[in-house]
Amino acid sequence: MKFSLSLLKPLIDKTVGKEQNFLPFFTRRSRYCIVLPNAPKAEYIADMNIHLNNALRQLANISAYHIYAEVQAVRGLKIEIIGGHSRISVGERCEVQRQDGTEILCEVIGFERNTAIAMAYGEVSGIKPGARVRLLSGGAEIYPSLDWLGRTIDAFGAPLDGFGYLPQGETAYAIKASPLPAHTRNRVGKRIDLGVKSLNTFTTCCRGQRMGIFSGSGVGKSTLLSMVARYTSADVIVIGLIGERGREVQDFIIDDLGIEGLKRAVVVVATSDEPALKRREAAYTTLAVAEYFRDQGKDVLCLMDSVTRFAMAQREIGLSVGEPPASKGYTPTVFSELPRLLERAGPGQGESGSITGLFTVLVEGDDFNEPISDAVRGILDGHIILSRDIAQRNRYPAIDVLGSISRMMPDCNSESQNLLIDRARALLSTYKDMEELIRIGAYRSGSNDAVDAAIYFNPALEDFLRQSKNESFTLEQSFQSLAENLGQTEGDTEQAETAKDA
Ligand SMILES: Nc1ncnc2c1ncn2[C@@H]1O[C@H](COP(=O)(O)OP(=O)(O)OP(=O)(O)O)[C@@H](O)[C@H]1O
Ligand SMILES: [Mg+2]
Repeated sequence: MKFSLSLLKPLIDKTVGKEQNFLPFFTRRSRYCIVLPNAPKAEYIADMNIHLNNALRQLANISAYHIYAEVQAVRGLKIEIIGGHSRISVGERCEVQRQDGTEILCEVIGFERNTAIAMAYGEVSGIKPGARVRLLSGGAEIYPSLDWLGRTIDAFGAPLDGFGYLPQGETAYAIKASPLPAHTRNRVGKRIDLGVKSLNTFTTCCRGQRMGIFSGSGVGKSTLLSMVARYTSADVIVIGLIGERGREVQDFIIDDLGIEGLKRAVVVVATSDEPALKRREAAYTTLAVAEYFRDQGKDVLCLMDSVTRFAMAQREIGLSVGEPPASKGYTPTVFSELPRLLERAGPGQGESGSITGLFTVLVEGDDFNEPISDAVRGILDGHIILSRDIAQRNRYPAIDVLGSISRMMPDCNSESQNLLIDRARALLSTYKDMEELIRIGAYRSGSNDAVDAAIYFNPALEDFLRQSKNESFTLEQSFQSLAENLGQTEGDTEQAETAKDA
C-alpha cells in the first residue's frame, strides 16, 4: 500500500472549507470516508487533519514486504546478524525478536566480513542465536511541530512528560542530518542576551554562534546552563540532557526552567542509564528539533549538557564495532562525529532563523588539554572556562573570564564597551599576576600604579562577576553594572550599545 499525502491534501482542504460533514479520501486500492459531526468546529477539523495526516504517514511507512535476517551471536553489547545482506547497510535499523516475542530496536553500526554488527536501543537480554531480525525501511526522522513547545521528549521524539499525545508536524526532519553547507549560510547575527552578566560582557555571544562551557565535574556547568535557559532572550530554547543523572532532569525542568521557561522550550532527554545508541541519538534529535524551529524563522538557543557524554556514547559504539582506541580510548569516529553534530548549530539560510549553541564539556581530571576538550574547543566559536579554584572561593558562576573567549568579540560590541572590557581584563590580569605577593603581604602599596588600581578595583570586579541563580541581567544592565563597578558613568557605554543592536 502506498499513500500520497500530497494527493490527499487538496481533498482535506476542500472539505474543511465547505464544512461538509464527511471527509473522503482515496488510496490506490480503496476509498475511505471519515464522517464528521454535523457542524464540526474549526478546531475539531484542524485536529482531525493532524490525526489523519499522522495515520497516513504511518500507513505510508508500512512496506509491502519484509526482509528478515537472523542473529548469529551476541557479544557484550554487539549483536551479530547474518542474512539479508543485499539490503543491510550501516545506519539502518532493524527489530530483533526476543525469546518472549517482544521486539527490540537495533541499529547496524558496522560489518565484519559477512556479518552485520548491530547495537540495541534497549536491553539485549532475551536475544538468542537464530532470533528473527526484521529489517526496517527508511531512516530515523521526527516530525516536530510548534506544539512541541513545553514538552519533554525522548531520543525518538516520543513524549516523556505524561502530558499525553504529542501532535506531529508535516515535515520530516532527519535525526542525523548533515550540517548546512557553509557557503549558503547567513552571517552570524546580532547579539543574544544570555541573562548572565559575566557572559554578556566578557564573552558576548551573537545569534548563530556556538560556544562551549568547559569545567571539571561539579564546578557549575549545569547550573550556569539552567540560568541561561531561564533568562535568555532567545525565541525558543531546545535543551538536550544527554547522559546526565536522572535526578537532574526533573530538577532542571521543574526548579530551573519553571513553567514560564518551559513554555518556550523543548527538552530532549536520554539519561546515563540508557544505552549508548539512545544517548547518541538524543543529541542528534536535539539538533533536529532546533533545526525545525530555525526553519520557522525563530532564533533558537540550543543547550546541550553534555557533549562529553555524547562523545562517550560514540566511543562505546566505536569500540563495540572494533574501532581502534586512539587518545584516552576515544575512537576515530568520535572525532569525526563531533563536528557533524556541533556544526548543525549556527546561522540558517535566507529567511530562516539561527541556532545559537551552548554545549557543556566535562573536562576529565581538570585537564583542559584532554582530547574531547581540545577537539570541541577547536570546532566552536569560543569557550567559557569554569574554574574549580573560583568555585572553591564560593564565587558563582565560577567563570574564569581571563581564560574564556568569544570569537565574535570585539566586533559585536561598541567601541566604548570594548574599552570597558579591555580595562576590566587588564585590571583582573594585573591582579592575577600579583595575587601571590598581595596575599602574603609582599607588595607595598604605591610601588606601581597599575597594581594599586588592580587592588583597588578587585572587590568591585569580584562583586560584578558574582550572580545568584535567581538574578538576571540584560545585555544593557550587564554593561551598565560593569561600568558602575569600575567607577564609570552609564552614558559611556549605553548609547553606542543601543545603536549596535538596532
Ligand atoms: N550559581 C551557583 N550558585 C551557588 N552554587 C552553585 C552555583 N553553581 C553551582 N553551584 C554549586 O555547585 C554544585 C555543582 O553544580 P553543577 O551540578 O551545576 O556542576 P556540574 O559542573 O554540572 O557538575 P557535573 O560535571 O557533575 O555535571 C551545585 O550543587 C551547587 O552547590
Ligand atoms: Mg552537570
